[in-house]
Amino acid sequence: MRDREAMREAFRRYYGGEPRFWVRAPGRVNLIGEHTDYNDGFVLPAAIEREMLFALSPRDDGMTLLRSLDYPHPVEFDLKMVEAAPEDPWGNYVRGVAWALQEAGVPLSGFHGVAQGDVPIGSGLSSSAALEVATALAYQAASGFEMDGVTMAKVCQRAENAFVGVNCGIMDQFVSRNAEDGSALLIDCRSLAYRAVPLPSDGVKLVIADTAKRRGLVDSEYNARRRECEAAVRLLSESLPGVTALRDVSVEQFEALADRLPEIPRKRARHVIMEDDRTLRAVERLEAGDLAAVGRLMNESHVSLRDDYAVSGPELDAMVELAWETPGVLGSRMTGAGFGGCTVSLVEDGAVERFCAEIPARYTPRTGLTPSLYVTRAAPGATVESSH
Ligand code: GLA
Repeated sequence: MRDREAMREAFRRYYGGEPRFWVRAPGRVNLIGEHTDYNDGFVLPAAIEREMLFALSPRDDGMTLLRSLDYPHPVEFDLKMVEAAPEDPWGNYVRGVAWALQEAGVPLSGFHGVAQGDVPIGSGLSSSAALEVATALAYQAASGFEMDGVTMAKVCQRAENAFVGVNCGIMDQFVSRNAEDGSALLIDCRSLAYRAVPLPSDGVKLVIADTAKRRGLVDSEYNARRRECEAAVRLLSESLPGVTALRDVSVEQFEALADRLPEIPRKRARHVIMEDDRTLRAVERLEAGDLAAVGRLMNESHVSLRDDYAVSGPELDAMVELAWETPGVLGSRMTGAGFGGCTVSLVEDGAVERFCAEIPARYTPRTGLTPSLYVTRAAPGATVESSH
């Protein structure tokens, strides 16, 4: 839990005085548009009511000092010498953002601060993006530079790609920084144009179910999928000149050429091309108030991720199947990179209590794992508060 009083006390104890700024950056859940961001496609994530919170004050000696109330390791480094510390994976997200901001030519002041977060770690709700975006905003508050939300998301993604060494797309950092209260964000991951798509404020809830299966395979399989998509693009561009990403191939073009592709590139491309189409249709259906259709598209997305993209797993499938069997569930699918982590379900208000009671009781005997459930609304993107 985030406890501002405990953070304030820790701040006084470690540094003296009161924090000048509070910054918060949320985790995310993706409603639909999975494994499309690095294919220049469309995604529809929302920020969740779990976040990373920093209390901080600027320093003028170029040092960054950050104490997490959740981790034993204090983070401490000089902005003139930012290097990865192998013994401190958490702190490396902070160092990575300092590095990427400076690489982008931004002059930085240091800060000292206290951090606390309640985005569950390693469960696919983007605790790392929340930490990166909180760090970028902390430097912005401390140093006073101008930077729009799209550029900041790109800088945070670069920190993760080039400093931490995880080859993620832009979705997680983008939505943590730029989300709007009560809405999901439709992001065009090629142009980075985006718009808020309001979610119904009553009648349905988003329920996230953490399978408690940790995502062992995720990095190597994620990189393998990226390579398979690139291979599919090369094959498709032989018949479709000008195609540089799966985003460029329409459903009709794909259907006309699918038989000529070997099985693996065919299945991977089919997932991505259909998923882009489903994402745009989901936005249209959401805006028309047709939640039943949105739910059906979520279900189709899961089947495609399971059968064509091969990134689900027995635990995710079990959780989704249990949701599909539960009355009042409009749709349910795995969310995030896959192999473990969370599902997202669109659940009618009247069915939420039953969902939260029955699904764990049926999931545990099937898998031996104890799941966690979070009912959330779409939260606002990252914010800074100044105390003077
Ligand atoms: C992870 C990555 C995102 C995205 C999803 C899959 O969350 O960080 O960029 O690729 O997987 O949709």
